[in-house]
Amino acid sequence: MNPYVRNVWYMAAWEEEVAGDAFLGRTLLDQEWLIFRKGDGSYAMLSGLCPHRFAPLHKGKRTGDTVACPYHGLEFDADGRCMRNPFGDALPPQAKLQTLPVTARCGALWFWPGDASKADPALIPDFSAIDASGPVVRGKTLFDANYELITDNLLDLSHVEFIHTETFHPDGKFFTGAYKASEGEGGAIWSKSWMPGTTAAPWMGLPDGTKLDEWLEMRWHAPASMLLEVGNTFHDEPRHAAASPPMINPHILTPETQTSTHYFYTRSPGEESAALAHRVFELEDRPMLEDIQRSMRGRDLMEMNPVILSVDAAAIRARRKMMQMRNAEAQKSGA
Ligand code: FES
Ligand SMILES: [Fe+2]
Repeated sequence: MNPYVRNVWYMAAWEEEVAGDAFLGRTLLDQEWLIFRKGDGSYAMLSGLCPHRFAPLHKGKRTGDTVACPYHGLEFDADGRCMRNPFGDALPPQAKLQTLPVTARCGALWFWPGDASKADPALIPDFSAIDASGPVVRGKTLFDANYELITDNLLDLSHVEFIHTETFHPDGKFFTGAYKASEGEGGAIWSKSWMPGTTAAPWMGLPDGTKLDEWLEMRWHAPASMLLEVGNTFHDEPRHAAASPPMINPHILTPETQTSTHYFYTRSPGEESAALAHRVFELEDRPMLEDIQRSMRGRDLMEMNPVILSVDAAAIRARRKMMQMRNAEAQKSGA
């Protein structure tokens, strides 16, 4: 399995998952972490296992910005220092928790598992479009599949023709439309589908037979932080003449382990949107990705020498960029 890229921002959680005094315990990049909001409104991210018997600290007791281990009561502050040992005054020198830089941006918490001196918040990809698109429900699911497999899926939306046929009725649009992969500012990779002259679906509420030009554009930043824009305008009209504004959704992936992934997304409020998200994520994408993960039996995709199709162009670029980042980090560490 490929090692994780370290010098990059990963999403840990939605900010609302650690509202108030809540402790969040989460496995990220094969390690357990404790995340909480400090009294001053900033956030702390510490190793989630007590260094004594490795009890889960998110089940501990909070007093101010300290956590007391639920098993034998060692207490730690938000910088990971042991502040109290209930069995005597001596504080064991090894009783220290690892901490990571963590910062809030656009309703999400981002952490930097690499060299802390390089953790510049300006490098967090811009997801301000989440809030600009109106009220949203922030959702999360967990797929038993490697994050790069899910990235492949999101950068190649032609799978809508097969996996989401009944949900989105693409009716061959992806075969006749144009597809382009490109690179953009700040290390972004774009996967763009342009489908001119399609017929408006009945649920759009437009007169029968209205002709549209549709687009789907996915923006990727390392390691797997993506933003999808889905829009349409009247055929041969500029984008701003659209009957309704484009839909903009984040699809942000963070490895839980090498074979499981936290998948963060947003959706519109309401039951209909909840049902749609359930169907798309849980009933359509998940089974395919988990089947693939199982059948790979721990092998890396590129090792398996996959056939490459034209629709894989963006996914291949993203994989290549991740490999370059991994190689650069391995060289630096002398590995
Ligand atoms: S496991 Fe935490 S103090 Fe013993
Ligand atoms: Fe999908």
